[in-house]
Parts: sequence; C-alpha cells; structure tokens
Amino acid sequence: MKKNIVIIGTGGTIAGKASCSTETLCYTAAMVSINNLIQEVPEIQSIANVTGEQLSQVDSGDMTCELWLTLVKRINEILATSDVDGIVITHGTDTLEETAYLLHLVIKSEKPVVLVGAMRPFSAMSADGPMNLYKAVTLAASNAAIGKGVLVSLNNTINCGREVTKTNTLLQDSFQSPDIGYLGYLQGSEPHFYRLPARKHTINSGFDVTKLTELPQVEIIYGYLNSSPLLAEAAVAAGAKGIVYAGLGNGSMSKDVRDALSILAKQGIVIVRSTRVASGIVTRNGAVDDDLYNFVASDTLSPQKARILLMLALTKTNNSNEIQRMFWDY
Ligand code: SIN
Repeated sequence: MKKNIVIIGTGGTIAGKASCSTETLCYTAAMVSINNLIQEVPEIQSIANVTGEQLSQVDSGDMTCELWLTLVKRINEILATSDVDGIVITHGTDTLEETAYLLHLVIKSEKPVVLVGAMRPFSAMSADGPMNLYKAVTLAASNAAIGKGVLVSLNNTINCGREVTKTNTLLQDSFQSPDIGYLGYLQGSEPHFYRLPARKHTINSGFDVTKLTELPQVEIIYGYLNSSPLLAEAAVAAGAKGIVYAGLGNGSMSKDVRDALSILAKQGIVIVRSTRVASGIVTRNGAVDDDLYNFVASDTLSPQKARILLMLALTKTNNSNEIQRMFWDY
C-alpha cells in the first residue's frame, strides 16, 4: 500500500526562478509554490500519496527562529496523526543544515523527516530540484528511514541532520558530512543505509520547544589573527546569553580574547569553543583549559550547529558542565 507523505514548502533555490533556462547564478529563490513543484514531478505520485503545504516562501537566509518554532509545531502536529507516514521539507540550501539539526533535536516522532534543496533554480536546464525531490519522497516513504532521525538528501546521498553541511557555493555535490560520512545512498529509488546516527535525537532527545515562543539569543564570533574581544562584548551587551567562538585550529584563541571570554563566562554567559576549520574535533581541555575558564568544547559541531545546541541547552540551564555533557550526548 502507498504511504502518505506531506511535503512542506519553505522556499529556496529548489523553488527559484531565473529569466531563462541557462541562467543558474542570477535568479530569485522562493518563487514556485510547493503545489506547482509537486505537479511538475508527477512521478512522485507513483511512490506515495503526496500532498503539499506551504509554510513559508523565503530565501533560507531569511529563515528565523520564529519560523523555526512554527515549523517544529506543524511537523509534530502532522506526524502525530495516524494518516501521515512521513514528511519532506523543501528548503534553501544556505541554512538547510541548521534547520536539519534543529529538527533532529526537537521532532517527537520516529517517522521519517527528510530535508531537500537544490543547487540550481527550478527554471534551469537540468535543474537538480525535481530529481532531488523525487528521491527525498522515496526516502521519506521507506521503512528504512524510520527511526534514523532527521535526514538530508541531495544528489543521491543520505546525510544525518547532525553532520551535514554545505561545502561548496555552486556544485551539485555540495552537501557532505565531513569526517563522519554519509549515512547512505539512494541507489536508484532504493535507500541503502551503511551506518546509524549514534547521538541522541528525536524521540530520545530531552529538548522540547513546542511551548516556546522564542529561543535564547546566541551569537557566533569568528576567530582570526589579531582578533579582539570587541564583538563578543558587544554581543553580550546586546542581550546574547551564549557565545559560540569559531576559533582557530582546535578551538584556540588569542590571550586577549580568552581573558575577555573568561570574564563573560564568570558573568553567566555560556562560551562554547568551536572552530573555523571545516572538519575535526574541538577537544575539551585541549588547546584551551576549559576547566579553568569554564568554557564548553563543541566536539565535532561546526559553529552554526553548536549555536543551535547551545540555544536549546540554554532553555534548560546555563551550567557549563551540564552543557558540556549535552555536547557529548547530542
Ligand atoms: C536559499 O538558501 O534560499 C538560497 C540558496 C539555495 O537554496 O541554494
């Protein structure tokens, strides 16, 4: 029997339009409605009974925490009904990895949730969106995807929402899971998994945002040669409750920055050390003595993913030891 899949449209290049079919750089994202996208890929209906729902129509740079909370509530609501088997979300690729990790941590269901985007606009010759959408529905309708957390599928790959990241501004194989690798591939229309997400997610996650109307403010500060504490101090003055420092190497920083962050930590601001390096672990008490300064090491999370976990952690506590534990659990 065919499964019932809801596709939630949020915008992005997958729904983008340019002035002609050869144009892949200058276009407007978020132009084609989700129902039009579905109509343009009629093959989808042979895999599942598919319906569309337009949640937003934005370039993903304009995705907000408010929209996130609306999306989370809607997904949890839809998945709680017995007549829906899975969800696909179309999303702009620029912040897709952030939405994927947030959903991975707060969706309360084992049913498949798959995010999909495209690197070429819908109007382009050889647009990648229609095939990516077809494959994402295949994945969401598969038994194999049940209980695997929130997945991201572009270009025939299956990625975990925790690890996936955009690695190239233009190419169609932009979405990768550095170090840790894909969870699997779509071989034709069949998902083949090779490994499982080991960290807590979805029904095993302790985070619940369904009753929240906003998320704690966390800012990312980028590390570079001769950087000063100015931006971190300005962020806290503007209301930030947490700072993710995109440090050098293994989350390293200049003495000036370290001393300033240490003062902020003493004031109750949670400081997470991540890295500007594209892969690898930021280890606790490695490049910086976290015990001494009361900092948190981000483990393998990139600055933008660490920000999401810190926002959720701050809904529960600002104790840096407890938050460090969360960075090892999630
Ligand atoms: C966006 O993120 O909305 C625009 C870029 C894209 O989807 O590739």
